[in-house]
Amino acid sequence: MNKQPIGIFDSGVGGTSIWKELNLLLPKENTIYLADSKNAPYGEKTKEEIIALSKKNIDLLIEKNCKLIIVACNTATTNAIKILRDNYNLPIIGIEPAIKPAALQTKTKAIGILATKGTLSSELFHKTTNVFTNGIKVVEQVGEGIVQLIESGKINSEEMSSLLKIYMKPMLDTNIDYLVLGCTHYPYLMPQLLELLPKNIKIIDSGEAVARQTQAVLKQHLLLNSATSKPKIKFYSNGNPEVLASLIGEKYSVEYLNF
Ligand code: SIN
Repeated sequence: MNKQPIGIFDSGVGGTSIWKELNLLLPKENTIYLADSKNAPYGEKTKEEIIALSKKNIDLLIEKNCKLIIVACNTATTNAIKILRDNYNLPIIGIEPAIKPAALQTKTKAIGILATKGTLSSELFHKTTNVFTNGIKVVEQVGEGIVQLIESGKINSEEMSSLLKIYMKPMLDTNIDYLVLGCTHYPYLMPQLLELLPKNIKIIDSGEAVARQTQAVLKQHLLLNSATSKPKIKFYSNGNPEVLASLIGEKYSVEYLNF
């Protein structure tokens, strides 16, 4: 048994969509969440900048005694995961767009992927896509501006509705039947997307898979926490703590931290 916390970081508040899945599957685990909102979006930064920011976040989580790190950011995973794993001596879980399940299940032979510029232009994304999408049309759409709106608390704004209409048009024109959400901020758009898209289009993200992968890795390294005491859950933000607080519910509090 190991009571050390699991460390999770994202370029901001979006990774809480992963934290929710993790907390559901592993409710006994202590967790520390870092929202690097000050530096959001990572999706428009260079690979070198993304690596440096990811290292800064991991160093802080290690300082806080974390036993495993979840990179709850597609952009950071696709640009930095290999270098991070080479540099640190603890398990690091990443998150990649769920291209494989979408490609395996599509009937129209067309899938859509909404992600950041940083993710869609990464080598890892192209490698994964090439392996699984032979004979399938893949509509790649950069979700420019979406992360900024979510980070400023404007999930349900007019601006967001307009952007989503624009970004879904090429998907609809191509008759996709799977939409892959390739950024951890995007699951918060599920209500709008369900309203906007016809019912035959399934929307998938990677949250549940990441939680299951984390459980398997903890088990493998004998790091699971089976304590019956109430878990310690900490959220830190270097941006506006209220935006993060609005997404995680009243049960939890957010502390401002300048990191
Ligand atoms: C971003 O910071 O641009 C989005 C985070 C992600 O890719 O999950």
